[in-house]
Order: sequence, then C-alpha cells, then structure tokens
Amino acid sequence: MRRSRLMVLAAGCATIGVAMSVSRQVVHGKVISLPIRPIATLNVVAKTQAKHPGAIPPFSICSGNVNIASYLPGGAHEDPDVATANSEIALIEAESLQQVADSASLDLYHKISLHGKTEIYDTNLSPFKNIACATCHMPYAGFTGASSLFNATIAAQPGGVAITNATPPAPNYRLSARNPQSYAYAPYSGILHYNATQASFYGGNFWDMRAGGVRLGNPASEQAQGPPVNPVEMGNIDTACVVWKASQSQYASLITDIWGPQSFAIQWPGNVASVCAKPGPPPANDPYPVHLSSVERGISNSTYDHITMAMASYESSSDVSAFSSKFDAYLAGNANLTAEEQNGYQLFNGKARCNQCHLSGTAVNTLNTQAAADVGPLFSDFTANNIGVPKNLALPYYCESKPDQYGYTANPMGFGYVDLGVGGMLSSTNNPNPLQWKQLAPQFNGMFQTPTIRNVDKRPRPDFVKEYMHNGYLKSLKEVVHFYNTSQALPRCAQGSPGEKVTCWPEPEYPATLNTTQVGNLGLTSDEEDDIVAFLKTLTDGYVTAPATLDRTPVPAGKQ
Ligand code: HEC
Ligand code: HEC
Repeated sequence: MRRSRLMVLAAGCATIGVAMSVSRQVVHGKVISLPIRPIATLNVVAKTQAKHPGAIPPFSICSGNVNIASYLPGGAHEDPDVATANSEIALIEAESLQQVADSASLDLYHKISLHGKTEIYDTNLSPFKNIACATCHMPYAGFTGASSLFNATIAAQPGGVAITNATPPAPNYRLSARNPQSYAYAPYSGILHYNATQASFYGGNFWDMRAGGVRLGNPASEQAQGPPVNPVEMGNIDTACVVWKASQSQYASLITDIWGPQSFAIQWPGNVASVCAKPGPPPANDPYPVHLSSVERGISNSTYDHITMAMASYESSSDVSAFSSKFDAYLAGNANLTAEEQNGYQLFNGKARCNQCHLSGTAVNTLNTQAAADVGPLFSDFTANNIGVPKNLALPYYCESKPDQYGYTANPMGFGYVDLGVGGMLSSTNNPNPLQWKQLAPQFNGMFQTPTIRNVDKRPRPDFVKEYMHNGYLKSLKEVVHFYNTSQALPRCAQGSPGEKVTCWPEPEYPATLNTTQVGNLGLTSDEEDDIVAFLKTLTDGYVTAPATLDRTPVPAGKQ
C-alpha cells in the first residue's frame, strides 16, 4: 500500500533525482556536469526541497508530545521530509534495479557496490516493507536522519514496527536509544583492537564499537548484520528472512553472478513468507524460526555475509565516501578557505583541540600548523572518549518500558537506563574478546567512539535541523562548539530549563570517566566558536571546482 503511494508521488515530479548518485550537481547555484559515471544512470534531477514542514514541538520528556505515527506515511500530518525521503528511496532503488538489468558488462568493483546499494535502498527487507537502511541514513542529510522534525525531537529514528498498545508519553513506534551515525567513511575504521601502550580501543563501527570486524575483516560488513534483525530497527525475526527476500528480489541474479550459484541453494520451508512477515525478536525456544537444515543454514549465513560485505563496499565507494569537500579541494590546492574558515581551521588544530581526536591530517606538533601529513583525513582517531554529553531525555526510549503487542520491551530499565557506550559493549556478549577485554569495561563506561565529522553540516536546506552526539542531544554546530567550549565551565541546570545549552548545561550522562583535560573549558570567544563552525561547513562532500584554476600550490604533504 505504501509503495503505490510512493510511486504516485514519484510520478508527480517531472525529473527526479538523488543526491550523490546523479551525474549533475548544483554548486553555488550552478549546475556542473561531472564525468559520466561508469554505471548507466537515469536522467534524474534532485528533488530534496520538501514542502516546509510544520512547527517543531518543544522539548518534552520522551518526546511524549510527538505522535510519531502521525508523521509517517498514512498518518494525519505526514512529515514532508519523510515523504521526500521515501520517494528518494523508491527512486534510487528503481534506478539501481535498472542498473542491475544492465550489469553484465560491469567490472567486479561496480557489481559489488551496486549489489550493496540495491540492498541498502530495499524497503522489502523490513517485515512491513516500510523501512530500508537508507530511511535512517539519507544522502541529503549526510547519510543520517532524514527528517528535520524527528532530528529535532525524538533523535532516534522510528524503526519499522508500530506499537499499538502504547499510551503517551510512550512512543507508538519502536525506537532505539541512539542517533543514526553517518555510514559514509565507516568502512575505513579498522578492526577493533586494544592498544595496550595507549590503553585505548581503536576501530570498530557503532557509537560503542560493537561491530568489531573480527569475523569478516571489516567493521562495516559486520555492522550491516545488525539492523535487519534489530527489533527496534528493521525488525526481521531471522537473518534467513533477509536472504530469502534477496532470493526473491530483482537483484537475485546479480548476487549469484557475483558470489556464486550456491547463494540461494536452499529449499525454503513452505511457511517462510508467513514466518518472515512477523517482526522479531524470535522466541527464546526457537531462535531461528526459518527452519533449515544445518547445511542450508550455513549457506544462508554465508549469503548473509556476502550481502553485508556488499553493503560495506557500497559505503566505501565514491558514491558515499567521496572525499570531495571544499576542505579536500583546499588540500589539493584547488580552493581557498575564507578568512573565517582559515581561522576556524587554525583553532580546530590549536586552541580548540578538536584535531586531538578528529584528526584533520595536520601534524599537531609542527611549527607550521598548516602542513598536512595526510591529505585524505577521516576526522576521527577511531578511539573512544567521554566528552560529557548529558542524557537526552527527549529520547522516547526512556518510556519504552512496557511490553508492546508482541510482548517485546525495548527498555526494561526505563529512566534507570544509562548508555554505557564502549564499557557496556565490553560487559556484554557483543565483546569479541571477553577473556582479555571484559575486565577493562569499567574504564570505558560512558565512552563513545569519536565519529568522523565529515558531512556534519550536510543538509537539504538551511533550516533543516540535524542532531549530534550518540543520543542526538545537540542540534546545531554552534551548540556543539559551545558545548566543547563551556560545558565544564558554566553552571549545571536541568534539561528543558531556560538558558540550557547557552548559559548552563545538564550534568554528563556518566560523570565518572569524563575527559576533563581536552574538552569543556576552552576559553573561546563567540566569534571563535563561529569560525570553527565555518570550518566544519567546509567538510561537506560535493563541492565542485574547476581544477587548477586557482593560483595556489597544494598544501605540502608533510610526511610524504
Ligand atoms: C531505524 C534506523 C536505522 C536503520 C533502519 C539502519 N540504521 Fe544504521 N544506524 C542507526 C543508528 C541509531 C546507529 C548507531 C547505533 C549504535 O551505535 O548503537 C547506526 C549506525 C550505523 C553504522 C555505523 C557507522 C559508524 O561510523 O560506526 C553503519 C555503518 C550503519 N548504521 C549502516 C546501516 C545499514 C547498512 C543499515 C541497513 C542494513 C542500517 N544502518 C539501517 C540507525 C539505523
Ligand atoms: C577528546 C576527544 C575529542 C575532542 C578533543 C573533540 N571531540 Fe568531537 N567527538 C568526540 C567524541 C568521543 C564524540 C562522540 C561523543 C558522544 O556521542 O558522546 C564527538 C562528537 C563530535 C561531533 C558530533 C558528530 C556527530 O555525527 O554526531 C562533532 C560535530 C564534533 N565532535 C566536533 C568537535 C569539535 C568542533 C571539536 C573541537 C572544538 C571536537 N569535536 C573535539 C571526541 C572529541
């Protein structure tokens, strides 16, 4: 039902297109043609300007004043951003499926990343066919939350499962406790390891590093195994459901072409469709409800591995991880920074200490602070830190403490829930090396991985709200920089009180491991904060210049 609605929407637009996947981009108001892409592309033009959304409800505990279902398709006030995101997903998937039809001549690189893309934009992979990976990772928002209204309020994005027995402030959709990170650049994180010399964990994906990449050799491939069967996200009851759906898809032939004819050599049980139409989690006494022989289970598992490896391959491709920001152009000698951006860059590397965790590729201890030691910096050191982010009491998760109509309770602890981040991962069964690492958990409680800050300002229109930090507590880059500047210098105040985030801050969610040496009291002026924001805005991919027109030599690569 939803799909037909989407297609009507799509047909209503003359030519429709998609950020990051079209061969034309609008830069400074001019349309610039990029080199022809190797994969045939529909002639589509971006349509990310949604109708202006309605007023954003003010802060309330659990966002009890936000009727989530009413903003989703079929709801009384469908959020225009949600509608835009859904039409983009339908269109990108349609475009990708057309590319699949023409894929015989593609090389392996493009076949694999095309396979990943078709999976990431496939809403059929959720039991109610209502969300795809891209629903929470939208290109026009830098591969993060697609709806300004949801970013501003509930912070976590609705999963695919409606809750029919909830009363406000409990949410009427299942949601997680976290802000969807960008998946761009995620495959560049290393395999999770403990560096004993630094007493730090490095690598992995997710805010708590739990997708370590130990089994598949890449954190992003392992990461992609989670959302399809996460009850608060896509909500499949069994990974075999994802494999079965892929076997029924229009891209099934691409999978057997890449990964071999064994991919779907499975006698699917007669009830597979009805089993897979129910959301997870599976019952404790039947953890794999699609009943397969052990050999078929092995085939299904390995096809699931291939599906998720393809998703990581797409995430690492230049469609997603483009290294095409103004700052990249600057490092290549093809763009100049404005005076504000230049000052922000210097502050980022110096007084504001940002470069000590979000590595900008600039040597910290050099006399020439502009010398780039790395001209493709990822703006993360891939370690974890506790920078003192307060709880975000607007997360509906705190109120998901009663069983839903399927008997599932997302958060039995209610308001007692504390997000322990990496420490929580180390104490749990997600820890891939409990023998050596479990004992380290207390030191890492309250710590989260330094995210890349590439694309932090990517948004479809200036008033589109984005959310920052693991729980989406901060809502603008000015707030972020002001937080780093003052969160340990200004007085404490309660969440939702006047002056919050300007003249006072709530206490950190987990004070015991707070970093008190690098963040929280930087002594920046308001103008200096603004200049750092100006610099952060240079990290948005898709900046296009005519190469070599500027009279400027490239920044010397210090260590090369
Ligand atoms: C309902 C929203 C939702 C859906 C659907 C979803 N994600 Fe996410 N994604 C998130 C959230 C929230 C996080 C952070 C979760 C955490 O740290 O526990 C995340 C984190 C990630 C990360 C980690 C990035 C990093 O730098 O560590 C990657 C990669 C990613 N998602 C890819 C995917 C893929 C691939 C799919 C589909 C198979 C998907 N996501 C589906 C919400 C979603
Ligand atoms: C000590 C290490 C450290 C320093 C120094 C640091 N950061 Fe961070 N940064 C982090 C960590 C860790 C997070 C995630 C924290 C969380 O979610 O609890 C983060 C998150 C962010 C985010 C949110 C990104 C997102 O996708 O939600 C932005 C933006 C950011 N930092 C910018 C900066 C700027 C600007 C500076 C300098 C003023 C800075 N950081 C200094 C470690 C650091």
